[in-house]
Amino acid sequence: MHQLACPKCHEPLVLNQKSYRCFHGHCYDIAKQKYINLLLNPDKATNNPGDNKESLLCRQHHLNKGYYDGILNEVVQCIEKYTPSPRQLLDLGCGEGYYTYRIKQLLNDDSTIYGLDISKAGIQMATKYTKDIYWIVGNSKNIPILDHSLDVITALFTVVNVAELKRCLKNNGYIIHVTANPYHLVEFKELIYDEIKVKSDQYIRLPFDIIESYDYKQTIHLKNREDTLNLLQMTPHYYHIKKERRPILETLGEFDVTIDIRITVYQVS
Ligand SMILES: C[S@@+](CC[C@H](N)C(=O)[O-])C[C@H]1O[C@@H](n2cnc3c(N)ncnc32)[C@H](O)[C@@H]1O
Ligand SMILES: [Zn+2]
Repeated sequence: MHQLACPKCHEPLVLNQKSYRCFHGHCYDIAKQKYINLLLNPDKATNNPGDNKESLLCRQHHLNKGYYDGILNEVVQCIEKYTPSPRQLLDLGCGEGYYTYRIKQLLNDDSTIYGLDISKAGIQMATKYTKDIYWIVGNSKNIPILDHSLDVITALFTVVNVAELKRCLKNNGYIIHVTANPYHLVEFKELIYDEIKVKSDQYIRLPFDIIESYDYKQTIHLKNREDTLNLLQMTPHYYHIKKERRPILETLGEFDVTIDIRITVYQVS
């Protein structure tokens, strides 16, 4: 049973043929590709908020080659360790949907799964993986989910809103938060920046009880130039390359790069 809520009035959404409708008559059509656009106009900072198509395509190629499956497996283990099956699970900022889809495949149960992203292009790509996930164009600052209805929210490399996490999760629900550590992809940073800034990671701690928090490190071997450029182009670093450093891109081939991330499991009480 889905837990979708109207983004305008937060009343339950009820499926009515090809649209979802709330008690107040707010109505949202299901797109041909089988996603729902629950992003309100005032939420849109631009006409096309979120990650752009090029960056999403690079992400899709990179993820589908399995390079980040180590991260995926850690997340699935945390979900299975802390939450009983079947669950109500939201993947916040799901991008082009790879992790959401693979989480569903690996859990292989009757969990109800939602993938939400502010990027319409991302959600349109996600629908191609499966129609068995509620794919939602929406804003993490106004999650279209009923109060206290989710068992777990996964948030991989994306922005979260503390009040909304708390509102959507059941009492004692879990957040699985994946964030990049300062040395994540350090080899790219060494190529691009004159100096690597090591920031404190304090700003990414959320104000909930930490149940488990650990670093996951792995060196991955990008097998060819295409794979190296895909990963580089899905990171913000690509857009920070100074003009005089651009020729470096021509020389790139296979490449060893460090994954260095933090996985934190929070419980909301
Ligand atoms: C770095 S990507 C990560 C995507 C995916 N979790 C992954 O790891 O492949 C961050 C994602 O957050 C989305 N995003 C940014 N602001 C958002 C917001 N306010 N609400 C929902 N999604 C947002 C972007 O569109 C983008 O897809
Ligand atoms: Zn409504």
